[in-house]
Amino acid sequence: MSEAKLLFEAFKETKYQVSGHGKRDIQVLKNALQNLDGKQESDIYGNGPIIEEFQTKMAEYLGKEKAVFFPSGTMAQQIALRIWCDDRGSKKVAYHPLCHLEIHEEVGLKELHHIQSILLADKDRLIELEDVSNMDEEVACILLELPQREIGGQLPDYATIESISMYCRNQGIRLHLDGARLFEILPYYEKTAAEVCSLFDSVYVSFYKGIGGVAGAILAGDKVFTDKSKIWKRRHGGDLISLYPYIVSANYYFDENEQRMNQFYYDAIELALYFNSCDSVSTIPLVPVSNMFHVHFQASREEVEPILAELYKETSIGLTGYLKEMTQKSCSFEVNVGNQYARLPKEKLKRVFQLLDKKLRKS
Ligand SMILES: Cc1ncc(COP(=O)(O)O)c(C=O)c1O
Repeated sequence: MSEAKLLFEAFKETKYQVSGHGKRDIQVLKNALQNLDGKQESDIYGNGPIIEEFQTKMAEYLGKEKAVFFPSGTMAQQIALRIWCDDRGSKKVAYHPLCHLEIHEEVGLKELHHIQSILLADKDRLIELEDVSNMDEEVACILLELPQREIGGQLPDYATIESISMYCRNQGIRLHLDGARLFEILPYYEKTAAEVCSLFDSVYVSFYKGIGGVAGAILAGDKVFTDKSKIWKRRHGGDLISLYPYIVSANYYFDENEQRMNQFYYDAIELALYFNSCDSVSTIPLVPVSNMFHVHFQASREEVEPILAELYKETSIGLTGYLKEMTQKSCSFEVNVGNQYARLPKEKLKRVFQLLDKKLRKS
């Protein structure tokens, strides 16, 4: 078996894991369904109380006129950008070089909508106002991803978002929020979702990350925008006859976990401290600004994999099931703190990091 597979197998065998909410098994859906009346009617092609009530609840929470439920954020965001492009009669949008649309969607925006992306900032740093104001291109829309996942979930100062928002309004450029992890950043900014969203023309949020549902997304904005998004949802085949398994799980886990974001944030700060106390380990950001961060080892993937696998066998606490090679001499992985962290025996956790430190020093 390869070292990567050994690490994955050892991780799967652990009793506790530091990241996430737990297994993504069918129990996730069963929990969400347990208290529902079996006679409750399904939504039908985007209509019916089950979808409409959830959309109204989320529109209120996000401080937007209307909200539309989508099966995926990928679909919702491509549609949002298409609408803003059609509005402005332009085929250009701007965003970070490592945003989800640019690196995880098989160039869907270009292939499906013939929209060109202008990349703002260097890939290893956040977008600043100057990146936006120095842009030569006339774009219809700018997308900000908060937090910027691929660089550890970093966040700009709130004042930077406000200044970009004001600049875009003055220039007639639409500002869209990739808020896949919007709930998770509110404790750091000490703002409500509605306050953050007021800086944006359109917003997407996800229900299977910090919230912990099965899948699904909400796209919110004014009524003209969301009405258009429903037409595009139909065109994309996103109007499944019944979306309720996603909606009820989104609703159930929103009610459960949205209020725990503070806890996840403080737990992430504590966990990052543990990692940073180990030899040749550091986190980005050094102090997390949400429930997520990236852990970097100044050692090769081949060196670290067996160390972690051995650590898991000795302690039954899993830190990660994979390592991403960064260079020949460094590797990393992502942490997203959820409900599992609170279940960890704290004394054991301390021991894990003492052991990890020792093993890394020896290697
Ligand atoms: C920042 C960001 N945006 C968009 C998406 C797309 O969401 P979905 O998986 O619902 O298509 C993701 C998914 O991981 C994401 O992390």
